[in-house]
Amino acid sequence: MEKDVNVAIIGFGTVGSGLVKLFEKNRPRGINLKVIIVKNLNKKRKVAFSNLSSDVKEAIENQGIDIVVELAGGCNPALEYILSSIKNGKHVVTANKAVISEHGMEIFSAAERHNVNIGFEGAVAGAIPIINPLLEQLSFGEIRSITGILNGTTNFILTRMSEGMDYSTALKIAQEKGFAEADPAFDVSGKDAAQKISILASLAFRKWIRPEDVHCEGITEITPTDIGYAKDLGYAVKLLASAKKTSAGDISMKVNPALIRNDHHLAKVNEEFNAILIEGTPFDEYFNVGKGAGEGPTAFSVYYDVLKIADMIRSKKTRKIIFDGPGTKIADHKKVRTEGYLRLYLSHFPGALYNALGVLVRHKWNVKSSIQRGGMDNEVIFDGVKCLPNIITHEPLEFGTIQQTLQELESLETDKGKPVHGKPFYMRIEN
Ligand SMILES: NC(=O)c1ccc[n+]([C@@H]2O[C@H](COP(=O)([O-])OP(=O)(O)OC[C@H]3O[C@@H](n4cnc5c(N)ncnc54)[C@H](OP(=O)(O)O)[C@@H]3O)[C@@H](O)[C@H]2O)c1
Repeated sequence: MEKDVNVAIIGFGTVGSGLVKLFEKNRPRGINLKVIIVKNLNKKRKVAFSNLSSDVKEAIENQGIDIVVELAGGCNPALEYILSSIKNGKHVVTANKAVISEHGMEIFSAAERHNVNIGFEGAVAGAIPIINPLLEQLSFGEIRSITGILNGTTNFILTRMSEGMDYSTALKIAQEKGFAEADPAFDVSGKDAAQKISILASLAFRKWIRPEDVHCEGITEITPTDIGYAKDLGYAVKLLASAKKTSAGDISMKVNPALIRNDHHLAKVNEEFNAILIEGTPFDEYFNVGKGAGEGPTAFSVYYDVLKIADMIRSKKTRKIIFDGPGTKIADHKKVRTEGYLRLYLSHFPGALYNALGVLVRHKWNVKSSIQRGGMDNEVIFDGVKCLPNIITHEPLEFGTIQQTLQELESLETDKGKPVHGKPFYMRIEN
């Protein structure tokens, strides 16, 4: 007869509650949920469970437990819980992107030493199967690039802004709907997506990449005007997280808002959805879309990992996750060439555009298009000066040159005054 597999969960919040519901609904044969560890035993729970404890040892040191599911969140004390569980011979499932992106190497090597499995499908992109495919089928291919919409909050905000809503109102609605945290800085700065793309890139390229290696730009400077002009040019605006092998053999890692062609797979991914596009040989393209967070979608992936690891325990299999080690060559983002979109607010005096274009010419910009629409509707007042937005798109240039050009445009002075007002705003165009 097959051995029963016993499970302990640490954390009974959003994802923990969703996981218990799945256990109750499906009653997986031979898998027993034994204990749930919480911080505060007196808290009122949305879901009932008979054996709650606040003593984490009942999970991580309990001889009868085979799988510890860590759903407490953060790095401290989650890392300690995970490493102690592994040392005690327990398999671990987690949805914790923070602890995996910051301490993955340590966790995977401890798991290898102790011959146990780690499942973390829930840590990136909720219900979208991506961790297991990268560790299994896709690992037989050669991956060139991963591009994803990995943050549902920002995708929801950009969707509302594409309908004309301003950033602050869209953020407020995202918070009311429970997509955005009270402090949304981690999402809107791109840092959440940076943690996720660093995990995916580490698995895809088998070299450990940290969130700090990811060049990060957020969405807070985008206006509905930008999204409107992007639409006119045939593009959607998305916060993209990407990991790409460059021709020099290093890896370009970035999170940035970008214009993508309307007919691109990712341009059609709206609302709070996440999506991932992987390109490589011989499979060509792997594209998947789904809900990236929330009780059901995340618990679904955690539940899958529990079932999968229970099977591996019964068949005495372990899946090793091995990296070449740190020291991966990350491309200098200043040297990576990109096409892009530039929005300038130009003073309403003759020669302002000429002055601005002079700076672009000095930095060898090859302008593809320049749009300026007149009329009261388009006017914006900066320090009492009437300005009009001018939108410029250009052919590929090194990002460092682009940054230098923006600084010069911002500080440009002429005898008629400043030609450019406010901070020039730039987004890459990803083709
Ligand atoms: N929510 C999502 O949509 C989502 C999506 C993807 C990934 N995740 C990840 O899933 C994990 C769990 O997220 P969540 O949203 O379910 O969190 P949550 O709702 O805040 O729940 C956290 C749970 O962990 C317990 N806990 C906290 N610190 C603890 C400690 N030191 N010892 C024991 N228990 C502790 C809390 O106990 P009390 O209830 O007693 O306070 C609570 O039950 C996080 O790593 C998160 O990043 C969440």
